[in-house]
Amino acid sequence: MTLRAVVKGVGHYLPERVVPNSEFEDSLDTNDAWIRSRSGIQRRHFAAKDETTSTMASAAARAALTDASLAPADIDAIIVATSTADLTFPSVATMVQADLGMETGFAFDVQAVCAGFIYALSNANAMILSGQAKRVLVIGAETFSRIMDWSDRSTCVLFGDGAGALILEAQPGKGTPQDRGILSTDLNSDGRHKDLLYVDGGVSTGTTGYLRMQGNQVFRHAVEKLASTAQKAMERAGVSPQDVDWIVPHQANIRIIQGTAKKLGLSMDNVVVTVQDHGNTSAASIPLALSVGRERGQIKEGDLLVTEAIGGGLAWGAVVLRW
Ligand code: ACO
Repeated sequence: MTLRAVVKGVGHYLPERVVPNSEFEDSLDTNDAWIRSRSGIQRRHFAAKDETTSTMASAAARAALTDASLAPADIDAIIVATSTADLTFPSVATMVQADLGMETGFAFDVQAVCAGFIYALSNANAMILSGQAKRVLVIGAETFSRIMDWSDRSTCVLFGDGAGALILEAQPGKGTPQDRGILSTDLNSDGRHKDLLYVDGGVSTGTTGYLRMQGNQVFRHAVEKLASTAQKAMERAGVSPQDVDWIVPHQANIRIIQGTAKKLGLSMDNVVVTVQDHGNTSAASIPLALSVGRERGQIKEGDLLVTEAIGGGLAWGAVVLRW
């Protein structure tokens, strides 16, 4: 018997405040047309003053638990992918654990910036396959509005806040690509590119810092690395692009999403796109897209999905799963 980490539930949370591109026009030398044409973004959500990464993560977790008809006590582990933790420590995951009233199991954060959810899924899969956990709550949650330099038009118009959550459960499979659940993962990083995308704060400066990005340099790496990791993950899973129902990519830029789909030989009809409504929510973008894609009726049980992401580090990777 092959063990598989199968999706039991999905949910998301978006802050109430929606910020259209036009809101930046008063304070910055930018406009809706530039932001739309260069990134595909039309609007994003920003957290309210009393909202944090952990409160949004908890809301997404509750939605996923409801979707799965499970209680917090049914969960063995919580993994939160985030680069915008409420505090330096403890982890957001332990804050969510307390908020859900979960007194058993274990919880920790994973930090791989925009690739964080892929890294978290891979960790959850390994724990399920090794028998360390039967049910894992995997969350991506970010409050990037708190690390924006509002005078830098090349970054502050691109990011948004939100959270998405997935529950994975150990279930028997046949060991074939027809199984439901995670079929393969592929993780990569190359620290030589650490200066292309970073936050200039932390314990070394005593400040929270602001996001700094050489966007066009990151862009140059993105399509090639995303297509290659997706291809490696598909080979490992024993599937080909023609088998894929949905690519669920990290939602950073519509041009990167289109370029990657084209390189994989897939049509945009097979891509779940939310970047226009959410902007780049870093580690939250893939679980948000999974939840919204399911809500829209795009993602259905039995569909073959490829998720892929790249972000600061650089760190990138892909997961192939059958929903
Ligand atoms: N409004 C108007 N003009 C702008 C704006 C703006 N908001 N921002 C930049 N510009 C200008 C630049 O100053 C530049 O002007 P210049 O030619 O006079 O110097 C011009 O537009 C072109 O700038 P580029 O940076 O070359 O524009 P590009 O087409 O590359 O688009 C973007 C920029 C959207 C940032 C793109 O490079 C991108 O999406 N990069 C990848 C982002 C990404 O995927 N990040 C990884 C994940 S994020 C994470 O891990 C946290």
